[in-house]
Amino acid sequence: MAELWDPWQISEGAFPTKGTSSEKLRFLLNYAILAPSNHNAQPWLFRIVSDGIELYADRTRALPVVDPEDRELTIGCGAALFNLRMAFRNFGYEGVVQFFPDASKPDLLARICFGGEKGATAEEHALFKSIAQRRTNRMPFQTQPIQESLLTELETCATKEGASFQVVLGEENRNRLADLIAEADRTQMSDGHFRRELAAWIHPNRTSNHDGTPGYAIGQGSLASYLGPLVVRTFDMGKGQAARDRQLANGSPVMAALWTENDTPGAWLSAGQAMMRVLLRARVDNVWASFLNQPIEVPELRIRVRDLLGKQGFPQLVLRMGYSQDVKPTPRRTPGEVLMRERLR
Ligand SMILES: Cc1cc2nc3c(=O)[nH]c(=O)nc-3n(C[C@H](O)[C@H](O)[C@H](O)COP(=O)(O)O)c2cc1C
Repeated sequence: MAELWDPWQISEGAFPTKGTSSEKLRFLLNYAILAPSNHNAQPWLFRIVSDGIELYADRTRALPVVDPEDRELTIGCGAALFNLRMAFRNFGYEGVVQFFPDASKPDLLARICFGGEKGATAEEHALFKSIAQRRTNRMPFQTQPIQESLLTELETCATKEGASFQVVLGEENRNRLADLIAEADRTQMSDGHFRRELAAWIHPNRTSNHDGTPGYAIGQGSLASYLGPLVVRTFDMGKGQAARDRQLANGSPVMAALWTENDTPGAWLSAGQAMMRVLLRARVDNVWASFLNQPIEVPELRIRVRDLLGKQGFPQLVLRMGYSQDVKPTPRRTPGEVLMRERLR
């Protein structure tokens, strides 16, 4: 049965202050599920334990063609964890995190427990409030530049989470990055397996699915959104996609990459938390972002992104940032749908 409840309408005032630990933890999950994930696959599961929440990678939602190592899957889980951390802090809990707490369970990525009582800082409150204000905004951005001071803060946000945020500077480097994005679009779209995987997660605008990407999120009207999955599966539209993405990249006030020193599950989890901190901090100042990750998903091109950044590390994400109108949020599974215990009943 279709859910009437919209997860994006979550209200702080509904926190069950007098409820049991379990009721409180379940409420906090509402914020984790608003995190972004590639194709909106929402590759996470949660288990409520006595005084905290365990976060599991849900590899049944993996994207083996575009993300064969579950790198982006883990980044998405890292983003959900960051939202949870801010939710714990917002409601006055320390939120103590253990990463990979059980070596025999590689899917158990983290456990977050209440810890002591601890009021949130102004920064944590602001980041928390941005959780429901964030969407991936693929619309063209206005030409208005982003202030240097905010960009410096975004660098600090990534560093705090163990990653690096680097703005791509200079016309030549920006053009090189746009070329890599366009080349990656052509490579990916020419691969029937890639298109089939993508098509499985694209849905008509009036979808009742709680996951995947409705056509409106990529700017499609109703009719185009009905035909979208069939068209994507059937035709190689790499050239058109490349031209559109090149235009989006060149027209964005900021193009940036997020990178880490290592390329391990731990680094991907850090990258996800860093990404979320950057995206939420940007929203505090009304700045939107979307992803142009394609060159990082094609191994030969990922090396060229690294060369362009001039760093020894591993690029994890390419982001474009700027000012725009709000866009409609994409669907989410409810806490009940992402709780492990309830699924096993
Ligand atoms: C690791 C990761 C990779 C992503 N890659 C892309 C991408 O290459 N292109 C794109 O348009 N969106 C990309 N996205 C954005 C997702 O499609 C988006 O988060 C998802 O559809 C949910 O929508 P929302 O962010 O508006 O909540 C990516 C998101 C994550 C977390």
